[in-house]
Amino acid sequence: MMAGKWTPDSWRGKPIKQQPQWPDEGALAEVEAKLKNFPPLVFAGEARRLREHLAKVVEGRAFLLQGGDCAESFAEFHPDNIRDSFRVLLQMAVVLTHGASLPVVKVGRMAGQFVKPRSDDFETKDGVSLPSYRGDMVNAMEFTEEARTPDPQRWLQAYSQSAATLNLLRAFAHGGFSDLHRVHGWNLGFVEQSPQGEKYRELSDRIAETLGFMEACGLTSETTPQIRETEFFTSHEALLLNYEQALTRIDSLTGEWYDCSAHLVWVGERTRQPDGAQVEFLRGIKNPIALKAGPTIEPDELLRLIDILSPENEPGRLTLICRMGADKVEARLPPLIRAVEREGRKVVWACDPMHGNTVKSSSGYKTRHVDKILAEVLSFFAIHQAEGTHAGGVHFEMTGQDVTECVGGAQAITESGLADRYHTHCDPRLNANQALELAFVIAEMLRSERTANADGRIAAAS
Ligand code: PEP
Ligand code: CO
Repeated sequence: MMAGKWTPDSWRGKPIKQQPQWPDEGALAEVEAKLKNFPPLVFAGEARRLREHLAKVVEGRAFLLQGGDCAESFAEFHPDNIRDSFRVLLQMAVVLTHGASLPVVKVGRMAGQFVKPRSDDFETKDGVSLPSYRGDMVNAMEFTEEARTPDPQRWLQAYSQSAATLNLLRAFAHGGFSDLHRVHGWNLGFVEQSPQGEKYRELSDRIAETLGFMEACGLTSETTPQIRETEFFTSHEALLLNYEQALTRIDSLTGEWYDCSAHLVWVGERTRQPDGAQVEFLRGIKNPIALKAGPTIEPDELLRLIDILSPENEPGRLTLICRMGADKVEARLPPLIRAVEREGRKVVWACDPMHGNTVKSSSGYKTRHVDKILAEVLSFFAIHQAEGTHAGGVHFEMTGQDVTECVGGAQAITESGLADRYHTHCDPRLNANQALELAFVIAEMLRSERTANADGRIAAAS
């Protein structure tokens, strides 16, 4: 199959899934035109830099940590929420860097993650059928006709919230908050009192000691930007292509097209048809991109998608986010890894242990068991170790808040406890303690991967 010429709107000629029914085409076109004149949210050079970092992940010289809300919302927009999610990601990154002795590439599901695929176009309650809630960029959650009618004016609020969020994230990353000397300070609030918080404090003590030593050697925050600041990138699912297209711009340096709504965008499990609109859009932008791969994908289909999405096979271009489910990962993942290896395709292998492990609790809440999440991550690492490939990263739905949305974990949240603080607008998220708890386990696995590799090298050399 020969691919046709790509343009930012060539997706419009392809079959498209998971789209709202906009009631007024004119109003839609008006907002698209307006957004085309808005400033880009990220710059092409930043997206290229993320691609370079991801290339290191492909080579096994770095680890990817991607996390954030399932869906950002207008109602939960608050600087404290942004700070808390950022802070937990920093804590996790410190734990992982320390365990793996590898740099951690930090990517938020933040500053643009506003649109959701849904299993049904309509939701019915008491005989009334209304369009499903598709994320705050499309409609509102409240079950009324007015709230559920898709409204493109919402894009402007999503854009402005993304811009303000990104501005704060940039300030946190470069303005002093992320200085490693503040490593203790990221452990505040309810996390500090928990066993994970205690473990984290011990780790921070060791880091502080090392920083003291380095300072004596002349490496201080003033002399060393790596100590003073961090790099943080943004990502979301490229689902609403009208919006993505409006923010897609030519980079003046290279003359290439970049989707400037985020550094990285991905195509979801439900919209990854090789001849579909989302895949068409992603193939032409030069950002690093990702593909969600669920338990039904076959090796041939995956290779075909890789050919379309990463024809130049440039490391860092494509991340495969595998979300098989704890019970399926052992059967489904190895054939994919073998096919990709056999064909010499360069990809980042990341594990999303959230989306294959969603269940309905007895109390009716959508939830996930921390044990299942952990089991999928453990299998993912064991499989890569057995195949001789690098388990490159993890992808979590999480928040810095003390929510009760996932059950289990050291905190032992029960099904009846879910009602206490269940705030998500879509899928259940790990709270800060649960996220940190997982980071400690993953750090341990990365450490053993490293030891095993080093032992292998010594054995091979002797
Ligand atoms: C998501 O990441 O929120 C999502 C919908 O995932 P998936 O496409 O893997 O189902
Ligand atoms: Co989700």
